[in-house]
Amino acid sequence: MRLRIDNVVFNYGSTEILKEVCLDAYPGEILGILGPNGSGKTTLLRCINGILTPKQGSIALDGADIEKMSRIELSKRVGYVPQHATHEACTPTVYEVVLMGRRPHVSWEFGAKDRDMAWQAMEEMDVKHLSSQRFDRLSSGQAQRVLMARAIAQEVRMLLLDEPTSNLDVRYQIDVMRTIHDQVRTKNMGACAVVHDLDLAMRFCAKVVMLHDGKVLAAGNRENVLNPENIRTAYGVDSVIDNIHGRERVLIL
Ligand SMILES: Nc1ncnc2c1ncn2[C@@H]1O[C@H](COP(=O)(O)OP(=O)(O)OP(=O)(O)O)[C@@H](O)[C@H]1O
Ligand SMILES: [Mg+2]
Repeated sequence: MRLRIDNVVFNYGSTEILKEVCLDAYPGEILGILGPNGSGKTTLLRCINGILTPKQGSIALDGADIEKMSRIELSKRVGYVPQHATHEACTPTVYEVVLMGRRPHVSWEFGAKDRDMAWQAMEEMDVKHLSSQRFDRLSSGQAQRVLMARAIAQEVRMLLLDEPTSNLDVRYQIDVMRTIHDQVRTKNMGACAVVHDLDLAMRFCAKVVMLHDGKVLAAGNRENVLNPENIRTAYGVDSVIDNIHGRERVLIL
């Protein structure tokens, strides 16, 4: 699914948070959304998910304006994995949380197909062994993987992931990004992932957009955007891009 954001302005009260943001995300690849704390990344994802409404500009999925879609139409297309998962605790078990991903597709009761898809998604995110555990007693990283399984079970065409690896150990950081990458490619979905680890972005995001103070500082192919100049402007740190084991890597100095 193709996402086009055109000239989006978003305000909290009188403070302008997103300033004429334009970007495109294409099917079959992950768009990395980068930028320092407070630069507007979560706000942008919440606008794409329809939780927040921009003051100006448009957001379209395959050419259809999301403002004209009902909540259920949007949740059939877009899956959102938030940065913090605390408010999900009302649903008791991991299995039930993942099965809830099927809700937009079901008119009355969950069927065998819904249950199969929930199990399949739990398998892909390696949380099957947690299926009967209470969601609110999981570690942050386990909870993050469960919510990703729910988004996969939701069969959406566009995944929005807010710092999907922030609570994960080194093995799962790679495993989860690889699973998302494979899903996006094989199902020709779109994905926008907020990523703080620039090296993970270099590895898994074909395109990246760098936000700075609510504006797009740079956007395009990862090799063009992830350079020491942009990294210095956005984060105020020095870096080198080096080829190690046949792959470009971002090292913060
Ligand atoms: N509910 C709110 N009311 C008012 N201001 C808010 C609200 N939520 C966020 N902000 C402000 O909007 C700006 C952008 O916040 P946002 O959460 O989008 O940043 P972010 O890029 O996701 O940061 P981080 O990397 O820390 O997650 C910040 O200055 C923040 O203080
Ligand atoms: Mg955020």
